[in-house]
Amino acid sequence: MYLDNAATSFPKPEKVYEAVIHAMRDVGASPGRGGYRRSLEAGRILFQAREAAAALFSISDSSRIIFTQNATGALNLALQGTLAAGDHVITTSMEHNSLLRPLYALRNKGVELSVIMAGPDGVVSVDDIRRAVRENTRMIAVSHVSNVCGAIQPIKQLSEICSEAGARFLLDAAQSAGYLPIDVGRYAVDLLAVPGHKGLLGPSGTGLLYVAPHVNLKSVIQGGTGSHSTAEEQPLVMPDGFEAGTHNIPGIAGLQAGIEFVLERGLSVAYQHENTLLNLAEQALRDIPGVTIYGPVDPSGRCSVLSFTASGVDSTLLAAELDHRFDIAVRAGLHCAPLAHRTLGTFPGGTVRVSPGWSTTSEEIAFFSDAVVKCIAKIRKSA
Ligand code: ALA
Repeated sequence: MYLDNAATSFPKPEKVYEAVIHAMRDVGASPGRGGYRRSLEAGRILFQAREAAAALFSISDSSRIIFTQNATGALNLALQGTLAAGDHVITTSMEHNSLLRPLYALRNKGVELSVIMAGPDGVVSVDDIRRAVRENTRMIAVSHVSNVCGAIQPIKQLSEICSEAGARFLLDAAQSAGYLPIDVGRYAVDLLAVPGHKGLLGPSGTGLLYVAPHVNLKSVIQGGTGSHSTAEEQPLVMPDGFEAGTHNIPGIAGLQAGIEFVLERGLSVAYQHENTLLNLAEQALRDIPGVTIYGPVDPSGRCSVLSFTASGVDSTLLAAELDHRFDIAVRAGLHCAPLAHRTLGTFPGGTVRVSPGWSTTSEEIAFFSDAVVKCIAKIRKSA
C-alpha cells in the first residue's frame, strides 16, 4: 500500500500512462528541432501541456511557464535567475532543502538571508515576516504547505507584505499544487515553483516554473533552444530560452494528462478526499497511547500529509516495520527539511509521515492505522 504521495504520487491515472506511451511510441521527436510532422506534433504536446498548467493556475500567458525537471529545478532557476549579491531574502524554518540549499549557496555569494522561525504548529507568523523586511528585501520565498506536517501558510498576507515592500513573492507549491486553488493573480505570485509528479499526477522528471510578466529572469542553463542558433549568448526568450536541451516530451505529455485529470476531478474534490483520509488516520492514531501528531490542530489548517511520532519508538524503525510486515510505504526521518523538524521539536529523530493519494480508500487508512498499532506494540515489546 503506497502512502507516500507527498514524495511522488502513485499510481497515476490511466490516461497519464497512455499519454507517456503515445509520446514515446507514436510521436518520438523533439519539438522545435525540425519542420517535419513528428516534430510539430511534439511541439503541440509542449504547447497543450503549458495551456493545461496555465488553466490550473489562472495564468493568462502560458509562455510564462518554463518546464523543469522537478520543483527543485524550478526553485533553483527562480532564485539564481533573479537574485544578486546585496539582495535580501526572507524565508521560513519550514522550508525543504530544495529551497534552503540554493539560498545557502546564494548567501555564500553575497545574498542576505533571514530564516524566520515558524510557530510550533508549523505556521509562520505574518508579523514576524513583516518585521524582517529591510530596505533591500527583494524576495519572500515560502512553501505553501509544509512537506513535514502539512501546515498551510498564510500566503495571501505574505503576498501583501511583498507588494508593500516591492519584493518578489516566490511560492513553492510542492505540496499544494493539485490540492489547493492557486491563482497567481489573486495571490500576486511572481514566481511559482511546481512539481509535475506529485499532486499534478504527472511522471517523475517533470516540474515547472511560472514567471510573472514583469520579472526578468537570468539564464541559469545555457544550450540549444532550436532558435537564434548564431547567437553566442543564450536567447532569453520565454519559454524556450530557459528550456535548453531536449525536452522530456513523454514526461510532459503525461503531465498534461495528469493536469487534465486534476481539472476534471476538481481541486475541492481532491482536497476533501485527502483531508477526509488524513482526519480518519488522525482519529485512529490519537487513540494510541504515546502518539503525538504534529502540525495545526484544526484540520482545515493542513493539507496533504500527517506526521506523527510514538514515544519510545524510532520513526525510521516504525516505517521499516510497516513496510516489511504490511507492505505499507510511508516516509520517516527528516524529510529533507531539518529546520522544520527543529521547529516542531522532532529533530533529530524525525517523524513518520503518511500521505494518501487520489486512489487511496478509507479501508486502506483503517488497515494502515491497525498496522501502526501492531508495529508500535511489537517495537515497544522488543525494546
Ligand atoms: N519533497 C519530497 C518529500 O517530502 C521528496 O518527500
